[in-house]
Amino acid sequence: MLQLTDTHAHLNDPAFQHDLNEVLDRARTAGVRTIICVGSDLKTSAEAVELAAQREGIYAAVGVHPHEAKSADEQTWKAIRLLAGRPKVVALGEIGLDFYYYNSPPEVQIAVFRQQILLARELGLPIIIHDRDAHEEVYRILCEEKAGDVGGVFHCFSGGLDFAGKCLDLGFYISLAGPVTFKKAGELLRVACEIPLERLLVETDAPYLAPVPYRGKRNEPAFIVETAKKVAETRGMEPEELAAATSNNARKLFSLER
Ligand code: NI
Repeated sequence: MLQLTDTHAHLNDPAFQHDLNEVLDRARTAGVRTIICVGSDLKTSAEAVELAAQREGIYAAVGVHPHEAKSADEQTWKAIRLLAGRPKVVALGEIGLDFYYYNSPPEVQIAVFRQQILLARELGLPIIIHDRDAHEEVYRILCEEKAGDVGGVFHCFSGGLDFAGKCLDLGFYISLAGPVTFKKAGELLRVACEIPLERLLVETDAPYLAPVPYRGKRNEPAFIVETAKKVAETRGMEPEELAAATSNNARKLFSLER
């Protein structure tokens, strides 16, 4: 039986409001022991903290996603800071830059990203990074803000092998999601194969990006099995071994209780 950790799931998404119990039952049956529930704004961050408080095996990350950066104000930061001190909050996230959708102006995204790295360093929490079409800018900001002091993970990694190397050198982990199972995974498979096992994580990003054979459907933590199997196959490992190693990495990065 696989023992998996889903390092990035939006259980607080409205997509799960009607059947979260069933979703969590299926996750358990599939071997998912631990789930990090991630915030995107103040509301979803508070919901993540609440879920973590109620459920065994669920931890929370709090933060403002680049899409929501434009609506964050002083009140938001006060509240996020308070939430970050609550039990079972293990990271700041998801935070970063999205230069694909540009739902917030780039200069606002950058300011909010910098501010949250500062907060993470102050609180001693790792960060969960959203990087869409912004590799170089994200990397530059991580260096300038000394994010390596707290470390963290590139969630749903979408860069090539060269960029992965730079992230690893900074001390970050690489998390792979459903796209690694897609037909056109290409360079992602090289990343999955080449990066050191002790820096690798897996995730669903549920309800988004369901892996094959569920592609196009609502994603959920139980489906992480498909991603783990694909990564294991690519590396020539047993899925059990990959699952145990990535769970161990998550435990280390997020200082999870055993
Ligand atoms: Ni996400």
